[in-house]
Amino acid sequence: MNCRVCHSPDLHRYLDLGKTPLANALLSDPNQKESFFPLEVLVCPNCFLSQLSIVVDPKIMFSHYAYRSSISKTFQAHCREMARACKHWGVAASGALVVDIASNDGCLLRSFQQEGFQRVMGVEPAVNIASIAMQAGIPTVNKFWGIESVQEILNREGPASLVTATNVFAHVDDIGAFVDGVELLLEEDGIFVLEVPYAFDLISHQEWDTIYHEHLSYFLLKPLVQHFEIHRLNVFHVERVPIHGGSLRLYVQKSSSRKREVQISVKNILETEAKSGLYDLATYNGFAQKVLETRKALRHFFEETALAGKKVVGFGATAKGNTLLNYCGIGPEQISFIVDDTPEKQNLFTPGVHIPIRSAQGLQEIPFDYLFLLAWNFKEEIMDKTRWFKQRGGSYLIPIPEVRVI
Ligand code: TMP
Ligand code: ZN
Repeated sequence: MNCRVCHSPDLHRYLDLGKTPLANALLSDPNQKESFFPLEVLVCPNCFLSQLSIVVDPKIMFSHYAYRSSISKTFQAHCREMARACKHWGVAASGALVVDIASNDGCLLRSFQQEGFQRVMGVEPAVNIASIAMQAGIPTVNKFWGIESVQEILNREGPASLVTATNVFAHVDDIGAFVDGVELLLEEDGIFVLEVPYAFDLISHQEWDTIYHEHLSYFLLKPLVQHFEIHRLNVFHVERVPIHGGSLRLYVQKSSSRKREVQISVKNILETEAKSGLYDLATYNGFAQKVLETRKALRHFFEETALAGKKVVGFGATAKGNTLLNYCGIGPEQISFIVDDTPEKQNLFTPGVHIPIRSAQGLQEIPFDYLFLLAWNFKEEIMDKTRWFKQRGGSYLIPIPEVRVI
């Protein structure tokens, strides 16, 4: 009803992807009963936060989780670079406590350890994923981020010099309480480093499949700066990073501290947003129009493929793939199976359209014509590890920003 950041009641609905199942709700049995929820995006004409029209209970989505950060080498390298960048902004490794919110299997905190940080602590709500991290030597509080987990860390370890949160802020409904918790845990001169998928990249590169029920908000810098100011926090530097189709990394300090000077990057990125039409509703309507065109092109591709008797296999049983497959009505008749290296996803079926997921083992012995990159954000890494497929004459189908065969 109201904007999550500025509480404006006047939201503009620009995209309707129909009713879809939860993107990570993989099935062990294709006859299992599933729930479908409307998937619609609204933009606030005041602060330009894009947001979903509904919120699904996070306990349903995140208490057991099939996603593991460490599967991708690209993400591992990204984490290492991030740990170095935090050092650059004045967090000394010795003695500092680093807390990672939604720490998953500990991928980022492991990078901090490798960079010499000895005191690390993760907070991760999924029981199965938190236990993987703990077995790997990453101390982890198995809770949702909130006042309880903050108190537990304060009691065990004291305040944090650095709090990180990658790819979780967009998943949170009450982003006010979320950052109040960060403020409470941080030392006076500590920093909060946050990464969110960047709505600039979403809109300008047509990354519409990254829209699913876990992602409640699609952030530009403008609403983020506004939000942090309201909560006594100050964005002092911002960078665009390539991970997950383009993300924004924000460096935040307490407004009461302001130890670090605000960098020109903040002003520059705000200006780029304004110049690129992102504070204009027509841009969002144009984006939605192109989503319809992509669906048409994909359906056309699969019709032609069927007529030619060609076979398609998917790579990456991704959440975004499940948005795409459900919205376009692509199922096992079009894609025989999807391969994924995540053990938690193998031998299950994708939600809604029920495509079987299996490991990539033995793929080289199977004849097929197209590899559909549902994890297009890791295109280079996947193409590199499937060079044998290109060499034997296969082609890749890439759905974003527009449908391409290469
Ligand atoms: P994401 O795009 O939501 O991060 O998901 C990427 C998915 O792709 C995840 O299920 C892991 C899978 N994947 C592999 O199985 N092998 C790979 O080499 C890469 C890069 C990803
Ligand atoms: Zn707003």
